[in-house]
Amino acid sequence: MGEFSADWLALREAADHRSRSPELAGEVARSFANQERISIVDLGCGTGSNLRALAPLLPREQTWRLVDHDEALLSAARDAISRWADDAEERSGDLFVTRAGRRLRISFVCANLARDLGTALGTACDLVTAAALLDLVSVEWIGLLAEEVARRKAAFYAVLNYTREERWSPLHPADADLFRTFHEHHARDKGFGSPAGSDLAAAVRRAFTDRHYRVRTADSPWHLGAEDAVLVQALATGIADAVRETGSVDAAVISDWLRHRLSGATCTVNHCDFFAAPSA
Ligand SMILES: C[S@@+](CC[C@H](N)C(=O)[O-])C[C@H]1O[C@@H](n2cnc3c(N)ncnc32)[C@H](O)[C@@H]1O
Repeated sequence: MGEFSADWLALREAADHRSRSPELAGEVARSFANQERISIVDLGCGTGSNLRALAPLLPREQTWRLVDHDEALLSAARDAISRWADDAEERSGDLFVTRAGRRLRISFVCANLARDLGTALGTACDLVTAAALLDLVSVEWIGLLAEEVARRKAAFYAVLNYTREERWSPLHPADADLFRTFHEHHARDKGFGSPAGSDLAAAVRRAFTDRHYRVRTADSPWHLGAEDAVLVQALATGIADAVRETGSVDAAVISDWLRHRLSGATCTVNHCDFFAAPSA
């Protein structure tokens, strides 16, 4: 159903994990350090990368609710988490795993976040999290999300939100045209209304401070070098495909740009992280 394949999510996982802001991750860990147990909802969970990054920072007893609208990704998440775990067992549809001294109970929920956010979140939780999701959503949806999170008195941690800024090396004469068109393509409605784009950080800050949350933001850029060649090539191919789909850049220019990018390019792709916690 979705436009995100399990292969693409697996390819980006290592870069995602090392790019998260360590300052914000440390703050999240400190916020819950005095608790024995915690319940977490992961929105747009894909194959569970966010859980694998975050679980080691959280209290020993964890209850996770993984939400996505793509059944195939939820099934891949079950498999990937079972492989990652020290021990895994299925009971009544939930997955029970242990990993490095932590015990996780994980439920998998297929829901469309654009339509059924309240249902997707469930009744109560301590932390709502999402990775690589907020660049898909509108300012209005961020307001609805903040309202639902605040109603549950939960904290909110969203990482790796693409800011539509990148630097590729070496330069190519078509870079400006290609990226302008790619950003236009990225600005298309993904089911949540018009994506917030450059208003994202301000929208998150406003939505949560209005509800008496303290909000911190930090950069989490991908720095992709020679050792990330496969990811760089997949990224360049995805950009070229998206630009081709618009029909607004000459096909020969796109092919030349892609050829150039497939032979040893490096890049920095900017993202940002947010952590919002209720004021005491
Ligand atoms: C860029 S992927 C990130 C996946 C995962 N969080 C990660 O970091 O690997 C975005 C995810 O959001 C999910 N998604 C997109 N629109 C959605 C919607 N309307 N409802 C639920 N999930 C959605 C996709 O299926 C995909 O798994």
